[in-house]
Amino acid sequence: MLERVLSLRRPAQYSEEGDDEDDESKTRKNISFAVRTTQYMNKIGFLRPCILLFLFLLIFSLFSPHSRNLVCISSYQPSSRMNFFSIDALDSDFGYLGVPWCRSKHGRTVEWTSKDLLKGLEEFVPIYETRPIKNNMYGMGFDHSFGLWFIARWLKPDLMIESGAFKGHSTWVLRQAMPDKPIVSFTPRHPEKYLRKGPAYVDGNCTYFAGKDFVDFGSVNWGSVMKKHGITDANRVLIFFDDHQNELKRLKQALKAGFRHLVFEDNYDTGTGDHYSLRQICDQFYIRGGGHSCFPDSDEARIRMQRNKFWEKAVDREELCGPDGAWWGVRGQMRDDFNHSNKAISYVEHFQNSRFVESVLDVYWELPPVAGPSLTHQTRYDPARAQTPLVEDGRFGLFQRLGLTRLENSVFNGYTQMVYVQISEPGS
Ligand SMILES: C[S@@+](CC[C@H](N)C(=O)[O-])C[C@H]1O[C@@H](n2cnc3c(N)ncnc32)[C@H](O)[C@@H]1O
Repeated sequence: MLERVLSLRRPAQYSEEGDDEDDESKTRKNISFAVRTTQYMNKIGFLRPCILLFLFLLIFSLFSPHSRNLVCISSYQPSSRMNFFSIDALDSDFGYLGVPWCRSKHGRTVEWTSKDLLKGLEEFVPIYETRPIKNNMYGMGFDHSFGLWFIARWLKPDLMIESGAFKGHSTWVLRQAMPDKPIVSFTPRHPEKYLRKGPAYVDGNCTYFAGKDFVDFGSVNWGSVMKKHGITDANRVLIFFDDHQNELKRLKQALKAGFRHLVFEDNYDTGTGDHYSLRQICDQFYIRGGGHSCFPDSDEARIRMQRNKFWEKAVDREELCGPDGAWWGVRGQMRDDFNHSNKAISYVEHFQNSRFVESVLDVYWELPPVAGPSLTHQTRYDPARAQTPLVEDGRFGLFQRLGLTRLENSVFNGYTQMVYVQISEPGS
């Protein structure tokens, strides 16, 4: 504001004094301005204490940490974004708005630690560099490729099943994790079709239910598929969903078939995405970091408005809230099948969905982003709604040691809270 006032005044001052550009005249103008200022200050001498107090408050507000954040995030400039990542602001950025999560039946979590994940990252980077599909637009980027590889390698399943293969990148990732185990892939268009136009991956030890053989995951004759692959224990199977279907529907179908280990690639945050996700389902008022306010004057509305300017996938209050303040799912809708289907659900229904999910969950684990945005330069997901990354902002040395500097920035833009869940029948 002050800057605007000054910049509005400057031309007036020059027009008063003429347009002479040389240094001497500039000095002269400054002197005459100083003299006039002194005369003016003498006239308003009685106001001096108030002016001093005002100046003190102005300076204090400019340098207080709270206002620095507001100043930094108020303009959409790359330079101000870097300022935003000044070291002291980093810690508070992750999870700033709250990161909801699904409660499991007995509070169990995964066996692996962040140390295991970092060790895995170091191993995975050179593998990822050999990927056949370099530009996997509309498919998985680096974060989720790493997550899927790590989970599959840790669990060592006897059979891997994927729903949604596109050009075959995720099939390739599963193959890197388990070189000798069979894969079953359900996908409407066979990845070999993409080979005609460019890079794709077709696996030699994968049974494809694609093209005219395509069957939806919910209609598969599992007895026959398991028998064909010599699987007697469904606990030894890992299911990977990247098919943009309602995850509640998929969870129920997997439970019915007796599967226990599931990975959902696109675990979309509330207000985003084309299908109802576990993250959305568990976004509830009784969960820390969950539930939303649709009041225009709320703190959340103010914070969201700022963050929306920075992060492509961050939603502001208008985008988050549908009719009658319905924020759950996407504006009160349960989306399915790439949003080809969407159904308005009541808050009670949404609440009951979360209670159901909690009743079958043994483990819920969201993959953290591999590294902070000041390192990856990703601009899509809002760190305020994500777990703390494996390589935190400011740790450039570690980022470099892990080989992550060798990857293009664009591969870090696809993070959508991939989640690993372990499930079992309610009451068990
Ligand atoms: C985002 S892409 C998958 C990307 C892939 N996993 C990767 O990492 O590159 C979604 C895929 O789901 C497929 N799809 C659509 N409906 C499906 C269904 N009902 N079951 C399985 N796949 C489906 C689409 O044809 C598309 O290939």
